[in-house]
Amino acid sequence: MDNELVLVIDFGGQYNQLIARRVREHNIYCEVISYKTPVEEIKARNPKGIIFTGGPNSVYLEDAPRMPKEIFEIGVPILGICYGIQFMVYSLGGIIGKANENAAAEFGRTDCEFDLSCPVFNDLNQKSVVWMSHNDYIEKLPEGFKAAGHSEKCPFAAIADDLRKFYGVQFHPEVNHTEEGKEMLGNFLYKVCGCKGDWTMSNYAKTAIAQIREKVGSGKVLLALSGGVDSSVACALLSKAVGDQLTCVFVDHGFMRKNEGDEVEAAFKDWNVNFVRVDASDRFIGKLEGVSDPETKRKTIGEEFIRVFEEEAKKIGKVDYLVQGTIYPDVIESGLGDAAVIKSHHNVGGLPDCVDFKEIIEPLRLLFKDEVRKLGTELGLADYLVWRQPFPGPGLAIRIMGEITREKLAILQDADLIFREEIAAAGLDRSINQYFAVLTNMRSVGVMGDDRTYDYALALRGVTTTDFMTADFARIPYEVLEKVSVRVVNEVKHINRVVYDVTSKPPATIEWE
Ligand code: XMP
Repeated sequence: MDNELVLVIDFGGQYNQLIARRVREHNIYCEVISYKTPVEEIKARNPKGIIFTGGPNSVYLEDAPRMPKEIFEIGVPILGICYGIQFMVYSLGGIIGKANENAAAEFGRTDCEFDLSCPVFNDLNQKSVVWMSHNDYIEKLPEGFKAAGHSEKCPFAAIADDLRKFYGVQFHPEVNHTEEGKEMLGNFLYKVCGCKGDWTMSNYAKTAIAQIREKVGSGKVLLALSGGVDSSVACALLSKAVGDQLTCVFVDHGFMRKNEGDEVEAAFKDWNVNFVRVDASDRFIGKLEGVSDPETKRKTIGEEFIRVFEEEAKKIGKVDYLVQGTIYPDVIESGLGDAAVIKSHHNVGGLPDCVDFKEIIEPLRLLFKDEVRKLGTELGLADYLVWRQPFPGPGLAIRIMGEITREKLAILQDADLIFREEIAAAGLDRSINQYFAVLTNMRSVGVMGDDRTYDYALALRGVTTTDFMTADFARIPYEVLEKVSVRVVNEVKHINRVVYDVTSKPPATIEWE
């Protein structure tokens, strides 16, 4: 790929991914790399600019993350953010005031005033609100630097060395609370680094397609399609690159939402791929007979999924490449090793072990989720798949509390469809990040006409979240909930009560099982 490149050097800050996303929003390709990356390697990649992230440490601590001073000698513009500005100041001969002696710590929204002649602040407001989060502070600037912004407590909220093109901000321009943060980053990228902005999904698609073609040659490619955003976009991309050399295996375990299996199949009908839909619902329901423990459900489905996939792969014969839908946050989280929260990355659990193939292709490994969606649209994928909300691998099996029967599955599919229809009709389908119905195993008394009923209670769940690690329950208007409730009770047999889950995560989880 020969796009302009900006490197975000990760010093362990919690916002490192966010900085990279903000840079990409300016149509400039960037990568997050560890501060341990050798300077020679950084230089060889010929970046247009470098951004130092924040980090949890104080620069004067012995084990604080540092880079050799040669990083300041490669002639590339640098923007230091929070810990990044302090590291820059410290390395170039300035003085950092220690937290414990310091009255200048700032947290949260802070008023700042800027020098508009500094290119980073050109054409912006002289006064605006920024997001601060620091204990240590800059006491004395290194030679060549001048103040470019200050707050009440912080005389060096922004600094500049125009000659060497080194800039720094004590605050976080990447978070939305910094009113003009986006513009400040844009100024650094365009006015200081001289970027042109050549990172677009249409360019990406062209390059990726050419690269995949070159790599695959006349080989055979296999992809496990779940119908989720990532595997669907990967399928679309591979299809454009290698056409019918690609086989997509869509294992339909029968716990999809109503009509979903057909919709996924229809979405790929006109694509030039070998599309194999395996209707394995009998197999899966059979395996789950008598199972009510959530973890056993998950495990049983996971294992059976691999068995089915394996059998299909054998029918296809020797496969050269297996596609995985790894995306960039997975790469950052499992690869850099210095962010405060590290989680190992699992993809389609265990698949690579059971299929004989030469190599893995990860065509989305450089993209953030929003970029994956843009790419999907660019490739002409149905909106239904591009904007699909997350859906757990075990599907509705973990939304039917307790033991699963075909009857319960049908009840839940019908009720869930009504909920989705009404959320879409109210125009809430993109603002609520995940919403679904759960069939509880609780029955209660009701009255319909003159008859007493004793039927199931349906729970509705809707959450807003950015990362699905924490979530808030969605404030769905009562009128919408009422519509859903009335329709469900009237249209779906065996449900006589509807409740809405008003618990956040934590303490609850998003799913009920
Ligand atoms: P929880 O319930 O843990 O869910 O708050 C967080 C997110 O993960 C999804 N989820 C799963 N996805 N297999 C999956 O592929 C699973 O077993 C599974 N369990 C939960 C859930 O839908 C939510 O988006």
